[in-house]
This record gives sequence, C-alpha cells and structure tokens, in this order.
Amino acid sequence: MAEMDPALGQDRCPGTSWNDLMASDSRPAPAILTEESYSYLGSEPLDAARYTSEEFARLERERMWPYVWQYAAREEDLPEAGDFVVYENAGRSWLLSRQDDGSIKAMANVCLHRGRKLRTEDGTADSFICPFHGFQWGKDGTYQGNPCPWDFKHLENEDMALPEAEVARWQGYVFIREAKGGPSIEEFLAPLPEHFKRWNHGECTTVICVAKEVAANWKVTAEAFMEAWHTLVTHPQILAFTGDCNGAYWFWGDNINVNHVPFGVLSPHLDPDGKSQQWIVDEFIKYNGRSSDNYDPSGDPYAVQVPDGMTARAALGAALRTAYAEQAGYSLDHATDAELIDALVYNVFPNFAPWGGFMPNIVYRWLPGKTPDTCVMEVRVLARIKQGEPIPRAVPRNTLRLDQKWTEAPELGGLGAVFEQDMDNLPFVQEGLHASVNGKVHLANYQEIRLRQFHRTMDKYISGELGKKA
Ligand code: FES
Ligand SMILES: [Fe+2]
Repeated sequence: MAEMDPALGQDRCPGTSWNDLMASDSRPAPAILTEESYSYLGSEPLDAARYTSEEFARLERERMWPYVWQYAAREEDLPEAGDFVVYENAGRSWLLSRQDDGSIKAMANVCLHRGRKLRTEDGTADSFICPFHGFQWGKDGTYQGNPCPWDFKHLENEDMALPEAEVARWQGYVFIREAKGGPSIEEFLAPLPEHFKRWNHGECTTVICVAKEVAANWKVTAEAFMEAWHTLVTHPQILAFTGDCNGAYWFWGDNINVNHVPFGVLSPHLDPDGKSQQWIVDEFIKYNGRSSDNYDPSGDPYAVQVPDGMTARAALGAALRTAYAEQAGYSLDHATDAELIDALVYNVFPNFAPWGGFMPNIVYRWLPGKTPDTCVMEVRVLARIKQGEPIPRAVPRNTLRLDQKWTEAPELGGLGAVFEQDMDNLPFVQEGLHASVNGKVHLANYQEIRLRQFHRTMDKYISGELGKKA
C-alpha cells in the first residue's frame, strides 16, 4: 500500500460545518451528535470486481455472512407465540419462530428428508409440516415424525432437530448469526446502543415496509445511501432544504458509521440571494414526501410559518418537537432540532441502516441476490408508539419486482420518487463496473469514508482477521 499522506482527509466543505449547525440549533446538542469520529483510512482505489465477480460473492458467503449478526426481522413481525418469519440471505433460508416463553428461535428452513423448504412465506403455526411428504417439526424445531415411520427406522437415533442459528435482540430488532461464537450483539453494535438510548427503537413499530429487487450489487446499492453528496446531481430538487455537503461522516471501529445530513437549511451549492427561510420550508413541504394531490397543510407539522428573524430550522424544530412529543406521549423539550429534522443515518456492518432521531425512523436493509448483479433493498418506516401502549403488529411487507418502481408503493410518499432517482443510477453503475477498463473505483477521502470503512471491514472477514480463521 502507498504511504498514507496525513494531510489527506483533513479538508471539509467550505462554509458552515455540521458542528457549527449543532452549536446554533435551539437546544444543546448531545455529545453523540458533536463528538467527531473520523480518521483518514487511505486513498487506494477499490477493485471493481468486488461488486461484479461471483468469486467475491462466494468469499462473502463463506467468510463474512455466517460470522456477522444479520438483522433478520423486527419483533413486531412475529409478536405472538407461533408467529414465524422466513428470512433468506446469502444462500441460506431460516425460520424465525416465536416460542411460548416469548423467546425467538432461528431454525434452518430446510426439510431434513429431501430438502424442500418448509415454508416460503411468513405465517403462524405450532408445527412445520413439510408440504412434500409430511415430515414434521414443532415450532421449536424438535422432530415430530413422518407419515411412514416404518420406512425410516434408520433415523431413530439420528439428530433430526432442525439446525439452529444464534439469535440476539436489540431495540425491537432480531438478529441471527449462523456460526456460533464471536462478539455479543452489544459488542458488535457498539457504540450504537449508547447512541440509540435517546431514540429507543424498541418503542416503535413498523408502519411502512417496502422491498424491491434492484439490478445492482447489494454493496453498490447500499453505498448509494452511505453518502449525501450525490444529492447535487441526482436529487437536485431537495437542495433547497438539504445541507448536502455540510454533513458529518463518522465511523467507529469496524461495524458502525454515520452520516448526519442537515435538513431545513439551504444547500451550500445554491445561491442564497432572494431565498427566504420561508422558501426553504415551502420547498421542504413540497418534496419531502408531502406533495400528494390531497395534501392538507392543517395536519402537517412541517407546514410552519417562519417568524421574522427565525431560521427555518428553528421554526421546524419547534413544530416537530410538539408533534412528535404528542406521538411519543412524553416531553421532547430536551430534543435539539437535529434530532427532529435531520437524516441521522447510521450503518451497521454489513447491511443494516437505522436512522436516529425522534421522527418516524427510516430503516434500510440490503440483501444480495442470486447473482452479484442483483439485490433486494428493503425500506421500513418505524413510528413511535405512545408510551405505555402495546406495540402493534407490523404492517405486511409490500414487495416490488425488478420491473416495478418505488413510486408504485404509494405509502412511501415523496420518498419513492427520490429512490427512483437513485435507481436511475444503480443498474448503470453495475453495468459500468463490469465494463470498466482500468477496474478501479476511486473514493472521496471524507464524504466516502463510510464506504472505505465498509470495505476495510469486509477485507478483515475475507482475510480471516475477523470471523472464520483463514
Ligand atoms: S422433502 Fe420434506 S417430507 Fe419429503
Ligand atoms: Fe440518493
């Protein structure tokens, strides 16, 4: 590797910084929003084959996926005993099943007779009877027999329980790990549990869930959501209220990183002349998922009138603080504007991205497809349930095919149109990576540090430094 130049990575977009904004917001920002955690990790190009080759996908399947905690479901997907979720990833299929004592088991979703998947859709069942010949297992994975036991005497002393994966739970998320042993979920997620103490996702339920097949590698797709600077060219309509290049890009250890993107401020790329603070709010309302035909401003906390001398951020912060406190059933007086307005987009290696803050939180997940050229992206929105009230069951997942558009999921509001702008790039990124002559991908030193950390961690799994020993 080339010698690292310590001066690289120190530059930031001229003008207002994220921490300047935090200092001018209406409440003191918590330390988790102000303590920078960046270091330069080098500027070496990445090999394009990481995104296109079956060989690299195989290394991921063998050396990475079995050893990480995979976000497999949310608690509200399977609230009652007997509820189960089919979770499929990286060539494996799992049944996550709620037990009578409230625990969750993850069992291989493969019949131990001749291999049929036991279930192909989520549901509720006390036992899993294979639809081919009727081998049967309890919801805890214990073997319960088959219709012709006289012909299977040789299995009487075999271990016929469904193989299990480890399960861990945190703030409503259910994780599995295929290979036993390794860091606990708290160790794996650190420092996320500390950061999310403020924004507990355990108080939330899934109110929107849309998944879509995408014609691009799962890492290409994930990385389109790891930086905000493509807003300038890909999503120009949101520059009016997005601090696209005054964001913060931080990472911790191997697994966690964040991009804090301020909203309710004019992009530094736009000429501020003649653009009032009210204009910022008006554009925000128009494009930020609130531009449907039957839009009613009376119920929209974003529809604020900015008093003279006040910033759009402060006015939005005040309105949203009241609205979200109502929803949560507790005071949000301590919440600073950023926690009510901004995109606080965390990533957990390898494919889980929960947003922080007190607003309804977006959660992304990216799963590799059957070839390196496709993936499935899932988007959830979590809403806070009023304190003391039970968490309702999740809405069912709305699954879109490859040939469908995000805008065909009307529940996403204006977000669907923004995702479609991303989709306008991704298949052509994938094709371009295949077509690349020099086979190199170059990254920004600051705004793409999350990608750099991601690939560094991936390399640690592939080399055996993490996970399976080489
Ligand atoms: S394959 Fe399942 S019972 Fe035969
Ligand atoms: Fe985008």
